[in-house]
Amino acid sequence: MRVLITGGAGYIGSSVAWMFIDRGHEVTIIDNLKTGKKRNIPVKSKFINCDISNLNMLKKSLKENYDVVLHFAALINNQESIKKKKEYLDNNYKKSKIFLKFCNENGIKNFIFSSSAAVYGSSNKSVHEKSKTNPLAPYGKSKLKFEKYLEKFKSEINYVILRYFNVVGVEKKMRCGFEIKKNKSLFNNLCSSALNKKNFKIFGNDFNTKDGTAVRDFIYISDLSEVHYSFAKILTKKSINSVFNCGYGKGYSVKNIIFKFNHYLNKKIKVVYNERRKNDIGYSVADNKKLKKYHDFKNIKSKLSLMINSSYRWYKKINT
Ligand SMILES: NC(=O)c1ccc[n+]([C@@H]2O[C@H](COP(=O)([O-])OP(=O)(O)OC[C@H]3O[C@@H](n4cnc5c(N)ncnc54)[C@H](O)[C@@H]3O)[C@@H](O)[C@H]2O)c1
Repeated sequence: MRVLITGGAGYIGSSVAWMFIDRGHEVTIIDNLKTGKKRNIPVKSKFINCDISNLNMLKKSLKENYDVVLHFAALINNQESIKKKKEYLDNNYKKSKIFLKFCNENGIKNFIFSSSAAVYGSSNKSVHEKSKTNPLAPYGKSKLKFEKYLEKFKSEINYVILRYFNVVGVEKKMRCGFEIKKNKSLFNNLCSSALNKKNFKIFGNDFNTKDGTAVRDFIYISDLSEVHYSFAKILTKKSINSVFNCGYGKGYSVKNIIFKFNHYLNKKIKVVYNERRKNDIGYSVADNKKLKKYHDFKNIKSKLSLMINSSYRWYKKINT
């Protein structure tokens, strides 16, 4: 396959790019390096340092036909999006629209879009693809707006919309991974606390969950990359326009995860409690029955140690 990946210098896009390269496919990456890193980009890919909305550059650089486009490029910080609402809507929605129109005009037939569980907002039970959407912050709103725009192309473009839950861990060969500076994710903050013996701040212990801390569904990066790989193959063979939740369907609270970090890394992370952050979601767990018809995850039980250990090894590698 010949694939075009936007955001391929970022955490998830690069992991997916490496998977395609490892399996002998041709990969072209578009990234403006706003948050992505050159070190993540596979050497065997073709890299175009460009914004997804820069049509002149895209026209000049993209000569081939691509079997599938995988669109990861986005700004992804939920909290930051509250302060930078316009920037998030412009980048994630308006620029994605420009890019999709360009793809359509240039004969792209298969498209995979990285959406997010943030489109659902808060719920106290697991959500399925038809559950009500109610994004709380501009980040989730920008994702939902683009989903709706993409749906207008269903007679011309085959697409899948993948709503990721919390993506964590690093691929086995440690060739690419998450950015550690400015990264406010739970796993990144826990790695930092574990390594630097810093207090770990729990934001909110009064959510409507068993232990009062927020609950999330974590999915290992390599499993998520496999999901992309199998959908890319499916799209080239059959007509499909659909949305899929990407999570394991199992929730862990922040306190559970801290306990597991201490256990697997043999640490004693000190915890302090802070107030909830604005628009933080208390409970976010996938109903993944629909995805499981296409893709079954193996050995989920063993994944938590892999997700924690690989994150910590990567954090140490990048930090030192
Ligand atoms: N990380 C998660 O847990 C998670 C969860 C749900 C959804 N997602 C979605 O997955 C996708 C990838 O996320 P990630 O964690 O790899 O983020 P990331 O920040 O590591 O990667 C995003 C990449 O897109 C690039 N980019 C951003 N705007 C661009 C533009 N206008 N033109 C060209 N390049 C641009 C950045 O430079 C970066 O390399 C995003 O669409 C995000 O919304 C991620």
